[in-house]
Amino acid sequence: MSSDPYDLLATTILLLDRDGVAVQANSAAENLFGKSRRQIEGQMAIALFEQDAALAQSILHACEGTLESCRQIAKVQHQASSREVSVTTVSLLGQPWAALIEVADLESRLIVDRTQRIAEQIQVQHDLLRNLAHEVKNPLGGLRGAAQLLEAELPDRRLTEYTQVIISEADRLQSLVDRLAAPQARPMQIDTVNVHEICERVCALVQAEFGVQVARDYDASMPDIQADSARLVQALLNVVRNAAQVLEQAQTADPMITIRTRIARQVLLQRRQHRMVVEVAVIDNGPGVALDIQDKVFHPLVTRREGGTGLGLSLAQDLLQQHGGLIEMESSPGRTEFKLMIPLEPS
Ligand SMILES: Nc1ncnc2c1ncn2[C@@H]1O[C@H](COP(=O)(O)OP(=O)(O)OP(=O)(O)O)[C@@H](O)[C@H]1O
Ligand SMILES: [Mg+2]
Repeated sequence: MSSDPYDLLATTILLLDRDGVAVQANSAAENLFGKSRRQIEGQMAIALFEQDAALAQSILHACEGTLESCRQIAKVQHQASSREVSVTTVSLLGQPWAALIEVADLESRLIVDRTQRIAEQIQVQHDLLRNLAHEVKNPLGGLRGAAQLLEAELPDRRLTEYTQVIISEADRLQSLVDRLAAPQARPMQIDTVNVHEICERVCALVQAEFGVQVARDYDASMPDIQADSARLVQALLNVVRNAAQVLEQAQTADPMITIRTRIARQVLLQRRQHRMVVEVAVIDNGPGVALDIQDKVFHPLVTRREGGTGLGLSLAQDLLQQHGGLIEMESSPGRTEFKLMIPLEPS
């Protein structure tokens, strides 16, 4: 479709001739069907969907002008899996095209809406916790200082055992408070960033700390993005470290982490339609996120790991939000995927 406005739509549009051949497609169609416009145009429209007799009938009748419009659910192959879509077929009488097909991807919209809601809740919780952390910071400093003074005055050295407990627990709280305040600690510093350099940095850090293999599946055509690289390293590191920790703890046979980069087009993120979004997926073959916390892994203080604070993912989500992006999670035993989505241009 030559006119650009169609290419801004998240909805897939196909224009058909009288024989049911797709003569024009917009850029959302390329993304949905995983084919270039050149591959789509000239093909029978029905062949783009999984076999569906009812849909074939509707398209045929719409092209002949014997059906005005019809809406039905169909399936398309999308990245090696089957995806439900809503298809509206409209007959176009007296126009250069015989019919129009509009395809809306039901699943991605539902996932994005749900993730969006969760991200917003987390934002509220995080703000609350951050205020609390701020309030705790000062008395904590006073507490630690007083324990040190007390220790110096103690008549019996054996009593220092107690002041040491106060000091070390105060330090533990201090680091928790610092992590809570971290995302806002310094102003955003936006630069031109190479996504794969960030991935490599995180791989090096994780491989040095854990014995796990990290496989790379990079999209070589990945453009540079405008982002705060330290924040992205932190976010990705939090996600990859989790995977490494889970694999180690569960003693998974042949533990494997894969970092996959891709470009997605026409994605709705934080209520904005983005032309291009960079996706960095972290996939592991561990036991999966515990069922009882699947809905709240991104919430602060949610953890199933011994010694975990439950802040890693909520911080990562926060850092992505600061870039106008989002993290999604899909997990089942044997395959867990965390997908970091970053708009090409910061919002
Ligand atoms: N790849 C994964 N596979 C299985 N479970 C995971 C995975 N990533 C995260 N989780 C679960 O989600 C929980 C929350 O993760 P998060 O990073 O927020 O906190 P944490 O790792 O427990 O502590 P922290 O990161 O603050 O040290 C983890 O405790 C773990 O149970
Ligand atoms: Mg963690």
